[in-house]
Amino acid sequence: MSGGRPPLTCIDLFCGCGGFSLGMQRAGFAVLAAIDFNAEAIATFDRNFPDVPFILHKDLTTFGPEKLAELIWPGSSARLGVDVIVGGPPCQGFSKVRRVDGANSGPRLIADPRRHLYREFLRYVGFFQPRIFVMENVLGLRSAVGGAYFTAVQKEARALGRAQGRPGYRVHSQVEDAWELGVPQKRHRQLIIGVRSDLPGYFLPELQHAPHAVPRPCLWDAIGDLPILRAGSGEQERDYDLIRRVEHVEHQEGSALRYLCNVLEIDRAKKLTSHVARHHSERDLRDFARLREGETSATAMRVRGVEFEFPYDKSSFKDRYTWQGRWHPCSTIVAHLSKDDLMFIHPTQNRSLTAREAARIQSFPDWFRFSQSRTQAYRLIGNAVPPLVAEGIEPPVFN
Ligand SMILES: C[S@@+](CC[C@H](N)C(=O)[O-])C[C@H]1O[C@@H](n2cnc3c(N)ncnc32)[C@H](O)[C@@H]1O
Repeated sequence: MSGGRPPLTCIDLFCGCGGFSLGMQRAGFAVLAAIDFNAEAIATFDRNFPDVPFILHKDLTTFGPEKLAELIWPGSSARLGVDVIVGGPPCQGFSKVRRVDGANSGPRLIADPRRHLYREFLRYVGFFQPRIFVMENVLGLRSAVGGAYFTAVQKEARALGRAQGRPGYRVHSQVEDAWELGVPQKRHRQLIIGVRSDLPGYFLPELQHAPHAVPRPCLWDAIGDLPILRAGSGEQERDYDLIRRVEHVEHQEGSALRYLCNVLEIDRAKKLTSHVARHHSERDLRDFARLREGETSATAMRVRGVEFEFPYDKSSFKDRYTWQGRWHPCSTIVAHLSKDDLMFIHPTQNRSLTAREAARIQSFPDWFRFSQSRTQAYRLIGNAVPPLVAEGIEPPVFN
């Protein structure tokens, strides 16, 4: 962004713990307000964004844009002061995973009220008339119900403001690949981007990785320096293992050092937090040890004939464990990691990933503090837009 003029402003709706906001701030935007109805999300946001003036614990189906405008600019109509609106309306209603289990078909498909939350988002867009909006969601959104929902978003965004003779929005979608943008993870998401129709040209963003990011990093770049833990051990707050860090950095030829310094901002973190490993049953620990690095249980059974103690249904070979590989991107960090942690076994230690490891794989800096409740922390981390991705989709500046 050019120097000298005030920063462009942005509002974050359905903000969660603030992955999107953090990326926007790093791209140079001033975040004016962030709204979410989850108390833990707002508490975490509050703890980490002392410079965001309005962090609101509100339900967006009832807390409308007029109320927000009145809070930010009491008694004034200065609502054109919002340049960009970003947000992640919840995605459960569209996810491909749930389509497989039948939860996204038939009457349940239409009935899911979370599918209509994009309308709350568009209500804010219609009111504030930002130059651009960016919505992030799972890939299923583009194709859900034969594309009908995406078409609805396009149609409704185009019509915004028509009654008042104001411009609507041109909307297109784009798939983001987090790994290309410097996040050590296989993560593809759908971006829905709207540009106010009075602005010149059509915005076709070339997603660029942030200047300080390393494209296509491996999992080990992000977590290889962290202290070794046994299942069920660790502390909420402790010192770093600096000897291990030095060894790690020397071994990784620059990429780890860049990730640690530029993305995780280790200089700003005085203590290591949220590095606590979950407890596992003795049977699970023995089963983990039967895997090789980078292998899933289904592959181990099919290819190497491994027998697990867990009573597998050999007709389906449904996967239960994934031992992550150091030199590859990690599997997608998901919100239900707290329940599905067996798919996230540490590449060299016999346990699943800690919340700090998950946060690092999502490109959250080490100074970012999460809830002491591991379940809540995993959920907020898995739900977030990786800050590095948000930084990479920095919207263009129109004069
Ligand atoms: C996918 S997460 C967003 C993550 C966020 N963009 C980030 O980067 O951290 C969706 C969020 O929407 C919030 N949410 C769902 N329904 C809501 C509603 N009616 N009003 C406000 N927030 C809501 C959830 O609590 C959740 O935090």
